[in-house]
Amino acid sequence: MTDALEARRRAILDELGVTAYRRRGSAAGAVRSATDEPAAAPRVAPPPGPDWPELAAAVAGCTLCALHRTRTHTVFGTGDRQARLLVVGEAPGAEEDRQGEPFVGRAGQLLNSMLRAAGFARAEVYIANVLKCRPPDNRDPNSEEAALCLPYLRRQIELVRPRVLLCVGRIAAQRLLGVETPLARLRGQVHELGGVPVVVTYHPAYLLRSPTEKRKAWTDLQLALRLLGDGDRT
Ligand code: URA
Repeated sequence: MTDALEARRRAILDELGVTAYRRRGSAAGAVRSATDEPAAAPRVAPPPGPDWPELAAAVAGCTLCALHRTRTHTVFGTGDRQARLLVVGEAPGAEEDRQGEPFVGRAGQLLNSMLRAAGFARAEVYIANVLKCRPPDNRDPNSEEAALCLPYLRRQIELVRPRVLLCVGRIAAQRLLGVETPLARLRGQVHELGGVPVVVTYHPAYLLRSPTEKRKAWTDLQLALRLLGDGDRT
């Protein structure tokens, strides 16, 4: 990111009172073994910063990166703002851009089914993306777009204070955790972000293309359920 862009980003975030996220522990984020005891994130008050209405307004009017020129709608996030489980995706696709809601296309249908299988109605979890605007032609978010947009997601996480974060897909996991580790090595471990355990699984769009991997995604969901203390829920 250029210095000028970074300065602009900081100025806007300072104005909003959005705190820059600082990862605890090592540079690659703390990682625990999947067999460790569940560590429930304590539900403490969020640090000072914008509340939901201010945050939603900031996202709706965001012009920090060029994606605002091609979007139809921003896609803020949806679901229970006090959810125990927060699902993080990559970026809106065409249908999400049209409707202004995350995961409403085919991948969203599969995500809903995965959540249902884990015992959750869609409305019981909170769902948000790393990017709030659709990258044209569904290309991957670039690092500058992710850096500019991530503070919104971090504030959503602070406000929801979920017990567990579930990252779907390599891009969401790498951007959120600030690592370049391949998905295969991110799965099956409990990462940590600001005191919240993070589980990584496949993106539902990938599972639509590779249905034989659904079994592994189910293993990941079970890990998330164990961390929630919901191991017997299914
Ligand atoms: N893929 C994502 O990562 N997020 C969405 O909202 C839709 C598809």
